[in-house]
Parts: sequence; structure tokens; C-alpha cells
Amino acid sequence: MDSIIVNGGSALNGQIPIAGAKNACLTLMPATLLSEEPLTLTNAPRLSDIKTMTALLASLGAEVQSLQDGQVIAMSSHGEINPVADYEIVRKMRASNLVLGPLLARMGHAVVSLPGGCAIGARPMDLHIDALTALGAEIELKDGYLHANAPKGLKGAVYEFPLVSVGATENALMAATLAKGTTVLKNAAREPEIGDLAKCLRSMGAQIDDDGKGTLTIEGVDRLHGATHPVVTDRIELGTYMLAPAIAGGEVELLGGRRDLLDAFCVKLEEAGIDVTETDKGLKVSRMNGRIRAVDVVTEPFPGFPTDLQAQMMALLCTAEGKSVLEERIFENRFMHAPELTRMGADIEVHGGTATVTGVERLKGAPVMATDLRASVSLILAGLAAEGETVVSRVYHLDRGYEHVVGKLRGVGASIERIKG
Ligand code: EPZ
Repeated sequence: MDSIIVNGGSALNGQIPIAGAKNACLTLMPATLLSEEPLTLTNAPRLSDIKTMTALLASLGAEVQSLQDGQVIAMSSHGEINPVADYEIVRKMRASNLVLGPLLARMGHAVVSLPGGCAIGARPMDLHIDALTALGAEIELKDGYLHANAPKGLKGAVYEFPLVSVGATENALMAATLAKGTTVLKNAAREPEIGDLAKCLRSMGAQIDDDGKGTLTIEGVDRLHGATHPVVTDRIELGTYMLAPAIAGGEVELLGGRRDLLDAFCVKLEEAGIDVTETDKGLKVSRMNGRIRAVDVVTEPFPGFPTDLQAQMMALLCTAEGKSVLEERIFENRFMHAPELTRMGADIEVHGGTATVTGVERLKGAPVMATDLRASVSLILAGLAAEGETVVSRVYHLDRGYEHVVGKLRGVGASIERIKG
């Protein structure tokens, strides 16, 4: 297994290009199942999760072509569709469950393996099942697979999510586009990836109204046509790289960055003493002189502070002046980066869903282990300012969600390399 070696201490200067959003692409790709006509995505990120989704769609009978070095994904599901999503693929990536809604809507039938838990939590699917059942599906769990049927097609309904769920909103939204009649989804997730999915579905002929406050109203149509859609900028990759100059010092411009994608995160960075400026090419981040100030963070559904940036923010706060309290409200086990940061000299106390970080002057490089996608990149960020060498092992987690991490950070002056293992 590969490792990444970081030698801390150099301030960073220059530009980092931000790719298309993994979490948008993973819901846009299954949307091809909703139409017999081709759906093409541009600005697609080059990630192993995208390859996994490609394999899953191919196993269902869709044609998926990766063009222009992976930045364009040309798909078509005009042929025979096999509505069975096998455990062997689904267990690798929870987002595989996003084929459930489209298969049900197009075929009236779907068999999708439960994804099983993952490092950050149990990841149930009860909200997906509730929402699709409200649309008229009959869903039962048998031998670890969800067997979903809607023999007479799906019917529009009013459904209020008891808890905000990104994936369940995406499955219900995609299914509702082909349901008979009107669907109203209340307390729907408002992440920018959902806005991007709605935009793509509209370009395919779906009728979707978004009140911008968590209610989606969808008028079902008989069929959707093909489209070409640019994947929205990845706000989590953006936030991750904004933290690089914040932690290491210097000034970096994030190309394609947009503040509206992560305003709550920007507010916290500014509270900590980081300067965030909008430019005509994106967002410029610089660390003013002096130490970072401690700030408190609570993760919430959008527009709140994103859970997918909690681990990375903790890396910054390890050397802040004072005590920061981070409350993880979305997942039950998302502090696995804490013991690894402690190995680098951080002072972190975790009690349940709350981590208290008491800032130290400087971290010390150490061998550490990546445990999940966002934890792995937080260790790399911590290594950028640590004294000496940090070796991050099991970096295959990184490849799921970050393209060319070493190249992007080296491009702004970081001393970082990847060692084949
Ligand atoms: C999406 O996961 C993202 N993944 C996650 O990003 C992200 O952390 C998460 O949303 C929250 O923003 C993709 O978009 C592919 P949820 P998802 O359904 O849809 C509970 C990354 O690092 N829940 O919004 O699976 C669930 O357990 C990944 O890129 C139920 O209880 O998240 C969690 O506590 C990690 N029942 C909370 O809701 C359900 O049926 C939010 O989950 C579904 C979810």
C-alpha cells in the first residue's frame, strides 16, 4: 500500500485548480438510468469512486465511456437494463445505493444490496426506503438486499424527511421525476450537489421547483431526454485546499472556488484569523501573521458547517491559540483522525460526538495511518506545518476523493511525495 511523505515547514504560494464534485458526480451518473437517451457529464473528477460507479452502471447494462482523460463521462442506458446492484460492488461504496431510485422509476423493479456500515458509521437506509415507499414502492429486505417493486409505476406524494439525508433526498428526487403526478419533498437536503442534480434533471426535461428552503416540488413526466451537464465544483476539495495555506502559511488561489458553496466554513476560517478573498478566478486564502485563533465548530446539514470538512478543520485547530470544541452531529464515529493527530503531538480529548482541541505551538512529524477519506487528508494537512517528516500510510483512501493530491500541493511549494508500497 502506498504512503505519502510530507516534510513540514514551507509556506505555500501559487494556485490550485479545483475539480468537479465527487459527491455530485456520484448522483449524476445514476441519473443516466432515467432516460434511454445519452447523458454526458463534463468537468468530471478522476477518482476511484467514479471508477466504482462506472463498474456498477456497466453491471446494470448501461454503457459508460470515460473520455478526455476522465474529465468527460459519456453514458447511455438504452439497452437491456439488469436491475440488480450486486453486493460485491455496493459494499465498496455506499453511494452505489443511488441507483435504487432511478432503477425503480425506469424499470418498476430493483434489487440493491444494502451497503453495510463503513468506518464513519452504520449508514442505514431507512429514510431512502420511507421516501420511496411514500412514492408507492413496495420494498422488503431479503438476504441483505433491498427488493423494491412498483409494478404500477410510482405515484407522486407529499413526504417530509424526519432527518436531513443527502442520499435519500437524491434517490427520492430522481424517482419522483418519472412518478405520476406531483411529489413534494419536505426537509430535503440542500447541499449544492442536490442543486446540481436538479439542474441536470431539468436539462433532461424534469419539472422541479426548489424553494431554496428545503422543499422540492416535482411534477412527474412520462420520459426524460438526454443532456450534457457540467459537474459543479467540489466544495469539499475546495475547503480542504483552503486549509493548506491556513495551516502552512503563505497565500494560495483556489481556481474555480466559489464562496457560496461553503460560506459557513469560510466564516469559521475568518474567525480563526485567515483571510479569504474572492477573485475573478476563484478564492484566495492567506494566513495573516500570528497564531491561529481557536474557534468552535458544529457540523450540520447545508448551509451549516460541512461534516466532510470537520477532520481537516481539526488539523488547523491543533496549533490554534486556545481551546476549540468540535461537535460532530452528522456521523457517530467521525473522529478517527484524532488519535493520529495526537501521535503528532496534538492535545485532543474526544467524548462521544465532541472533541476538545487545546492548541499547541507546533506539531511534530510522525508515522500516521489514514482510516477514511477525509481523515487521511487531514493528516497530510497537519504534516504541512509539522516539524520534520510525517509518513501517512494506507493512502488508497485518498484516491477515492482527491485527484493528484501530491501534484496539487507540490505545485504550491509543499515538500511532499508518494512512495509506492
Ligand atoms: C453524503 O452521504 C455524502 N456522500 C457524504 O460524504 C456526506 O458526509 C454526507 O452526505 C453528509 O453530508 C455522497 O454524497 C456520496 P446522509 P449520505 O444520508 O447521503 C443518517 C465523503 O466524505 N441516515 O446525508 O450517505 C446517516 O447515518 C462522504 O465524501 C439515516 O439515519 O449521508 C447520517 O448520520 C462521507 N438513514 C445522516 O443521516 C438513512 O436512510 C446523514 O447521512 C440515511 C441516512
